Amino acid sequence: MKHPLSVVILAAGLGTRMKSSTPKVMHKIYGKPIIQYTVDSAQKLKPENTTVVVSPDSIGIKNTLEGYRLNFAVQKKSKGTGDALKTASGALKNFRGITLVLNGDTPLITSKTLKKLLGLHDKNRDDISVLSFIAEGEHSYGRIVREKNKVKAIIEDKDADAEQKEIKEVNSGIYAMKPHVLNLLKDVQLNKGKGEYYLTDIVGLAVKKGHRVNAYILGNETEMTGINTREDLSKAGLYIRDMVVSGLMHNGVSFMDASSVFIHPEAKIEADTIIYPNVHIEGKTVIGKGCTIYPNSRITDSNIGNNVVIKDSTVIECSTVKDKAAVGPFAHIRPGSSIGPSSKVGNFVEIKKSVIGEGTKASHLSYIGDAEIGRHVNIGAGTITCNYDGKNKHKTVIEDDVFVGSDSQIIAPVKVGKGAYVGAGSTITKNVPPLSLAVSRTEQRHIEKWALKKRLRVKNEESEIKKIKTGKTKCAE
Ligand code: UD1
Ligand code: MG
Repeated sequence: MKHPLSVVILAAGLGTRMKSSTPKVMHKIYGKPIIQYTVDSAQKLKPENTTVVVSPDSIGIKNTLEGYRLNFAVQKKSKGTGDALKTASGALKNFRGITLVLNGDTPLITSKTLKKLLGLHDKNRDDISVLSFIAEGEHSYGRIVREKNKVKAIIEDKDADAEQKEIKEVNSGIYAMKPHVLNLLKDVQLNKGKGEYYLTDIVGLAVKKGHRVNAYILGNETEMTGINTREDLSKAGLYIRDMVVSGLMHNGVSFMDASSVFIHPEAKIEADTIIYPNVHIEGKTVIGKGCTIYPNSRITDSNIGNNVVIKDSTVIECSTVKDKAAVGPFAHIRPGSSIGPSSKVGNFVEIKKSVIGEGTKASHLSYIGDAEIGRHVNIGAGTITCNYDGKNKHKTVIEDDVFVGSDSQIIAPVKVGKGAYVGAGSTITKNVPPLSLAVSRTEQRHIEKWALKKRLRVKNEESEIKKIKTGKTKCAE
C-alpha cells in the first residue's frame, strides 16, 4: 500500500437491540467474541496503528484483546457513531495516511474485501470511500442515495422516506478516509430522532464541500452482516459454521449431517475422519486422521490422535487422547488427562487429571482422578480412586499390568505395584507390593439353613397377623 494505514474500530455502542447485559461486541460466535473477528481481519492489513473505541465499562473487551497491539479510546457516552469516531480522532491528529473506519459489530468482513476498498480508494484518489453492498429483504441498513449515479448522502433507515427505503445499495459501516475528512466530524449535527451524532452524515457534508466521495459495492450481504440482534448473531454463526465445514470437507473430512455440527474455526481435523451428527468441536482442538466421532459428543481444546474412536455422548475437555484409543459412550474426560494409545475408556467412566497408559482398559462405571495408571492395566467395573479426603487431593499410582477387580476403592495416596491383583470389592488403603494379591473385603461365611429359618419366621408372623384381624388372639379370649 502506498500510504500508511490507521484503523479505527467502533465498539462503544450500547447494543440495545441485543437486550443483553453483555456489551454487543462481546457476544460470541463459536466461542470467539464478535470484536475479535473484526480486529483479526483488520490486523491482516498490517496497519501502523489500530484504535478501538470502547465504552467506559469495557474491561471485558480490553481483556479479550490483551494480546493485540491496540490503542483504546474511551467514548464516555454512547452518542452515536459520529461521536465515537471523534473520540478516536485525537489519536489520529498527526497521522497523515489513510484511516479505515470499521464497525466493531461486523465480524464476517474479510481482509480481502477491505484491501479491495483501500485499493479503489487509492486508485480513484477519493477523499472518502464507502464500502457498500446490495441488501435484499427486510433490514435496517443506511441507504446509499445517489444522484446521476454519484453518491449524494447516506440516509439511515429510520429517516428514509418510502422511495429511499426502496434503494437496495446500503452502507456497510466501513469507510476509507483521508485525514482532512475527519475535520468534518465537528459539523455533524445531532439527529434529534435518535439523539445521536451519525457518522454517516459526513458523507453528505463531504459531497457538499466538493470532496471526492465514492461508494463501492464489494463483497456480499452475508459478509457485511452487522450484528444488531440475536437473530443476526445466530445467522452469522451458521454462516461461519458452513464456511468451516466446507473447508474441512475440502480437506477430506466427512460429515454425516453437516448442518448439525459446530466446529470452531481454529480447530484442525485431518483427512478420513468421520463426524456424526450433533458433534461440537470447540477451541483449539486438533483431531488426527481416520478418527470416528459418534453423535452428541463435545470435544474442547483437546488433542485427539489418529484412528481414535469417540463413541456417543462423550465429553472431552483440555486433554489428550492418543492413537487408536476408544472413548465412550457416555465418558467424561476432564481437563489435564492423557488417554494412552490403544487404550479403552468405556461406558460412564469419568477421568480427571490422570494419565492412562497404553492398552489399559477402564470399560465401565469408574471414577479415575489424580491418578497415574500404567500400561495394560485392567480397571474393573465400578472402580473408584478416592482422591479427596475432604481437604486435599491425593495421587493414586497403579503400575503396569495390574488387574483391579470390580467395585474396588483405591484410597489415595497409594500405589499398586507392577503386576499386582486387587480382589473385587476391596478397599485399598496401603501400598500393594508388585505381583501380590490384595484383598480387603471380609471373608465369605455360610450360615446353614438360614433361609429356611427365615421362611418359617415369616410364616409364623403372618399367621399371628391373621389372628389379630379375625379377633382370635389371646387378648380377645
Ligand atoms: C450503522 C450505520 C448504518 C449501516 C450499519 C451497518 C450509522 C449511523 N449507521 O448502523 O448506516 O448500514 O451500521 O452495519 O453509523 N458505536 C459506538 N458508539 C456509539 C454508537 C455505536 O462505538 O455511540 C459502535 C457500535 O458498537 C457498533 C458500531 O458503532 O459496533 C455501529 O453502531 P450500530 O448502533 O450497530 O449502528 P447501526 O444501527 O448498525
Ligand atoms: Mg450495527
